[in-house]
Amino acid sequence: MPGNLQSFLKQLSDDIEKQTLIKITLGNRRIKSSDLKNVFIKPVLIKNIPKLSFVYRYPTKDITSNFPAKESIFLIEKLLQDEFYNADIFTTENDFHFAFQKNNTAKIVSKGPSLKSTANALQHDKEKIRIIQATNAGYLKELGITTAEGIVKKEKQDKYKQINSYVEIIDGIIKDLQFNESLQVVDMGSGKGYLTFALYDYLVNKLHRDAAVTGIELREELVTKCNNIARAAGYNQLVFKSGTIENAVLSNTDILIALHACDTATDEAIFSGIKVNAKIIICAPCCHKQIRKQMAPENELKSITKHGILLERQAEITTDAIRALLLEAHGYKTRVFEFIATEHTPKNVLIVGVKQDKPLHPTQFFLEKVAGLKLLFGIQSHYLETLIDRL
Ligand SMILES: C[S@@+](CC[C@H](N)C(=O)[O-])C[C@H]1O[C@@H](n2cnc3c(N)ncnc32)[C@H](O)[C@@H]1O
Repeated sequence: MPGNLQSFLKQLSDDIEKQTLIKITLGNRRIKSSDLKNVFIKPVLIKNIPKLSFVYRYPTKDITSNFPAKESIFLIEKLLQDEFYNADIFTTENDFHFAFQKNNTAKIVSKGPSLKSTANALQHDKEKIRIIQATNAGYLKELGITTAEGIVKKEKQDKYKQINSYVEIIDGIIKDLQFNESLQVVDMGSGKGYLTFALYDYLVNKLHRDAAVTGIELREELVTKCNNIARAAGYNQLVFKSGTIENAVLSNTDILIALHACDTATDEAIFSGIKVNAKIIICAPCCHKQIRKQMAPENELKSITKHGILLERQAEITTDAIRALLLEAHGYKTRVFEFIATEHTPKNVLIVGVKQDKPLHPTQFFLEKVAGLKLLFGIQSHYLETLIDRL
């Protein structure tokens, strides 16, 4: 049967409205080199509000985001225009297979339902099995995430999801890499230590790795508190040190992490990682002020940067794009992606660099791209570049 994108979207809207939708699978990439392999979509209830849950499948991780129906249909339309040729809709009444062509006409095959009911499909946002189990982790209680009974406190649900998401991502990255027997991890700007503890717990107690994790933190009271909790938990190779990221002296480091270290502290952390040749550098940047003050393009981009909020967002994007390019220039295969739905935290961009034996392009290739971006936006200096130039 012939069809097109609009008939697909109409079918989908009807199934959502009638509550007959069980799930949708998008697949068969339009761009074969794209990291996004599939998207799986199903109806869910989030705090009693019906939404569609999107699971974006990448080679090393899944990212889940939930959207209201109307927004979901718009997103699915975009995904089918840009990313995928095929869509399978499973409903209680029928299965539909849409195979789109380049012009978005589609061949449709429909058959009787292979899944019988929505009873299991509409999942409530109940606790799912997480990589860091709340009940087994005494440190989560000491850090104020769980109650004495090991139940995650209502107001700490987002933090708990964040912790799990970070550990899942790190797990996905490290599982395919070779490390020395003893894994050395540094968490710069470790703050209250949520992730530092969770990562140590996961590496040592779940993966049974010989791992040493060091948190570096400016605020001495947090360092003392975290060291006390680590000693009480018997986490002998988890140590917190007071000091600045810029002055930290690192030796062998396999994984360098900096999550939400403010503004240029992220650059200092990336720089330290590059200097010690860390195998993996992971950072979640926050407050991008450094290049914002300089951005004064003398071209069409002025139409963007003349608006304060757009300048702010453009500065964030450009700052992180240059960080990614500089990591690439130093032999790190780098990805920038959202690690958790924005409803859990707005600071949700992660930059992950993995050191390569053979980089894809020579250093100069990436440095020219940095120079191009700087010229375009009228930027004199990016702090990470300044640090690297001092090497
Ligand atoms: C927003 S908190 C994030 C804490 C933790 N990484 C997390 O994501 O939960 C940032 C932390 O970095 C610390 N920090 C900021 N700049 C720093 C620097 N230059 N040296 C060391 N610590 C720094 C702050 O004191 C704060 O505790």
